[in-house]
Parts: sequence; C-alpha cells; structure tokens
Amino acid sequence: MPGSFLMPLVVTVKEIVTETPDTKTLRVVGEKGLPFEFQPGQCAMISLPPVGEAIFSITSSPTDREFMEFSIKEAGTVTRALHRITPGQQLGLRGPYGNSFPVESLRGKDLLFIGGGIGLAPLRSLINYCLEKRAEYGQIDIIYGARSPGDLIRKEEINRIWPSVPDTRVHLTVDAKFEGWEGHVGFVPSYLTELAFPPENRMAITCGPPVMIKFVLQALEELKFSPEQVITTLEMRMKCGVGKCGRCNIGSLYVCKDGPVFTRAQLDALPDEY
Ligand SMILES: Cc1cc2nc3c(=O)[nH]c(=O)nc-3n(C[C@H](O)[C@H](O)[C@H](O)COP(=O)(O)OP(=O)(O)OC[C@H]3O[C@@H](n4cnc5c(N)ncnc54)[C@H](O)[C@@H]3O)c2cc1C
Ligand code: FES
Repeated sequence: MPGSFLMPLVVTVKEIVTETPDTKTLRVVGEKGLPFEFQPGQCAMISLPPVGEAIFSITSSPTDREFMEFSIKEAGTVTRALHRITPGQQLGLRGPYGNSFPVESLRGKDLLFIGGGIGLAPLRSLINYCLEKRAEYGQIDIIYGARSPGDLIRKEEINRIWPSVPDTRVHLTVDAKFEGWEGHVGFVPSYLTELAFPPENRMAITCGPPVMIKFVLQALEELKFSPEQVITTLEMRMKCGVGKCGRCNIGSLYVCKDGPVFTRAQLDALPDEY
C-alpha cells in the first residue's frame, strides 16, 4: 500500500485550465513527478486546509507521466475553494482509491463510451489509455453530451484530437438548440438509441448524472447489450474513501472500496439504494 494511501501527500498545482464557466482542470505534480501510480477509473481525495476535502476521479491516463489531472465542477464549499486557487499553490492528495475499469477484459473489443457533463472525467482516463494503446482495442465510439455547447469539457480533445485517431468517432450532443451549434440536439440516452450500435463484441462504459445513467442503462438494454457488457461508475457521497466510515455503503458493499466501477450485472444484484 503506497504511503499516500491514508496520509495526504503534498502536491503542487502546476497549471489550471478553465474548461467551462463552472469547471476547471487542475494539473498537479508531486515532489518527483506523478504523485502516485493508479489505474483508469480510480479516484483521489483532494484536501485544501482548512476548508476540507472531497473526492475526485483522476481524469488523466496513467500513461501520462507529466502530471495528474482532475476536472472539478464547482458544487459547494471545497470545490468553490478549489476554483479560487492559483498555479504554484499546494494541496493535499491521498489515494488512489476504489477499483478501476477492467482494461484487460476490454482488450480486442469495440468500445462505446457514453458520458454526460463532468461524467466525462473518469471516462477520459480510460479513453486516453486505450488511444495510447490503440492497436489493442477495436472501434472506439464516444457519445458525449452536455446542457449547452459551452458546458462541454475538453473541447480540444473532443473536437480535434480524438476524432483524428484511426477508427475513433466522437458523437456530440447538447440538450437544446443553440445559435452556432450545428451538431446533434437531444439528450444523451436518446442519441444513443438513435445511433443504435450493435452489441456484438462491444462493451459500453458510461458515466454521468444519475438520471442520465438510469436512461442510458435502459437504452442499452433495449439495444440488447447484456448486463455483463455494460460498465458504469456510481457517485455516492463519500467521506473517508477507504471503507471505514460507512457513508457510501450499498448493502454489504462500499462504493469507495468495492467501486466506483460496477458492471450492470453487479448493480442488478445490489439492493436498490443507489
Ligand atoms: C467517486 C466520485 C468521483 C467524483 N469525481 C468527481 C470529478 O471528477 N469531478 C467533480 O467535479 N466532482 C466529482 N465528484 C463529486 C465531488 O466529490 C463533489 O462535487 C464534492 O464532494 C462536492 O464538495 P463540496 O464541498 O464542494 O460541496 P458540498 O458543500 O459538500 O456540497 C454541495 C452540494 O453538492 C452536493 N453533493 C456533494 N457531494 C455530492 C455527491 N458525491 N453526489 C451528489 N451530490 C453531492 C451536496 O449535497 C450539496 O447540495 C465525485 C464524487 C465521487 C463520489
Ligand atoms: S466513504 Fe467511508 S466507507 Fe466509503
């Protein structure tokens, strides 16, 4: 278990990228580069004394050795304070926490990513990991939506970088019509139904607001994806991040320790508390 698992490491904010009016990406480094090793889908607790700490998905890929990235949407006390920091400032970071996406069992499959809003953050870690090892995966399709064009994060990647990779397609959508937006208009689950990807040799990986996930799971079922072909992440309230406080339990599972990544088959076996 790395020394950073329970005790926060001190990290430095190297760069800050403003993604949207309410979301910023922090690029952080430890004393010797990457603060710790991790897998796509894992999270970390960021602390800003004396304000507090909150958990975030690591949005960079483990193949990116320069810095670790977190995309943070302003929601309350800690995230508001994190939006006010400046490059050079130090933060506490503990992790990595939780399980990760099953990168081995995704190998050789076509991948369908379905993200909404800030839910692109954990998916991005896996997307960039797979693109880095492009030959090991089949066709990659990314459906990504937000309320408005201005709310889409990672604009350079979604508009230019990812679509330029062979056998990789990005399907963007926004909730309503906006002046200057020539892309698809409609909610993510209905765009998924419209695109109607066949389930053969394909895995679907989704993350977004709970209501989006609910309808995405339904749409995938209608498209005949089996429960084993669908992977999602759960966002429960968390405090300790290490299975001790009981804040995030569903039945006998702790989302912070046993999740946040679950297959639909695993979710179906859980009590309906999420
Ligand atoms: C596994 C996991 C991964 C996450 N990854 C990211 C990420 O990559 N980027 C990001 O911006 N956020 C992420 N979050 C959410 C983030 O942890 C919360 O937004 C943060 O804890 C809010 O802290 P705060 O002190 O700013 O807000 P608070 O002052 O604590 O709360 C502000 C409002 O947000 C609500 N809230 C707080 N936490 C949650 C939650 N987990 N789910 C729903 N509502 C909540 C509160 O009830 C309140 O209404 C993740 C959460 C989990 C559990
Ligand atoms: S956050 Fe404490 S048990 Fe999961």
